[in-house]
Amino acid sequence: MSSTTGMFAIANPRIAVTRRIPEPALELLRETADVWVSPHDRPLDTDELHRAIAGADAAVTLLHDRVDAACLDAAGPQLRCVANVAVGYDNIDARAAAQRGVIVTNTPGVLTDATADLAMALILNVTRRLGEGERRIRSGQPWSWDMFFLLGHGLAGKTLGVIGLGAIGQATAHRARAFGMEIVYSARRRALPDVEQALGGARALELDELLARAAVVSIHCPLTPQTRHLIDARRLTLMDSDAYLVNTARGPIVDERALAQALRAGSIAGAALDVFEHEPAVHPGLLELDNVVLIPHLGSATIETRTAMAVLAARNAIAVLAGQPPPTPVSPG
Ligand code: DGY
Repeated sequence: MSSTTGMFAIANPRIAVTRRIPEPALELLRETADVWVSPHDRPLDTDELHRAIAGADAAVTLLHDRVDAACLDAAGPQLRCVANVAVGYDNIDARAAAQRGVIVTNTPGVLTDATADLAMALILNVTRRLGEGERRIRSGQPWSWDMFFLLGHGLAGKTLGVIGLGAIGQATAHRARAFGMEIVYSARRRALPDVEQALGGARALELDELLARAAVVSIHCPLTPQTRHLIDARRLTLMDSDAYLVNTARGPIVDERALAQALRAGSIAGAALDVFEHEPAVHPGLLELDNVVLIPHLGSATIETRTAMAVLAARNAIAVLAGQPPPTPVSPG
């Protein structure tokens, strides 16, 4: 069944929310539905998730919930909508959902600035070795100002390579322009001329060439079967030994083991990761290195942004249950 056919309002709908979300979103949901919210302050395991959404008309899910065919079947044929509280929806089998007439929605737009801010913060952090400096002070090791102490690399006049020039990639590139960086990018489609122009004449490059040219590479593409391990051992060898890799998109886009080896060998200067291949686990080889910044998936973690994401997800679920088109549906692919 197509995901947009047969739209009609559901009487007395039931919505399952798989983990606590900000109150303004719950209030919206409660105005129109009987709302169940997981009492656990953790991701549900597979059985719990299946039980939680069994019988629901809509599920409000988080990026750690695996909504695959088995989950959709466990939910039952009445399920109309899976409203993911994230822009990324690699946790959801959108095709299996469409086959069952379930509309999947995500939360684009509202987290663009927060995520781009964080990407820029990571670029600055890793190139200026802030984490190393902070660890040095907190560990009580002696230090003094000297000409060669914890030197990093400046950004002005350097090239930022953006992988995936969607909204977040563009917003990151705009921030990098303010720091004097030139922009090159690699994307499925070439950007419109005015987008390139607004980024100071950003140039589209093949990925391998981008990796060879960029002083900083920032990943902003979605996780798909095509982008899994896009940055692998071979591609890491293309980067300069003074270059940095930053990932605020999805962990499995980078082969973490290969990255740990490249960082250890000094074949790239550093990396900053907000996302991990087997989240929340981090490859042990990364934990022992000083030239990598590790933070726990904080791209959208501002009060304003998380509230806006949850409210948008709630509006999506409510629209579908009212038989209306949701504000931000995803394409089944
Ligand atoms: C998203 O929305 O996909 C982000 O990863 C959440 O921070």
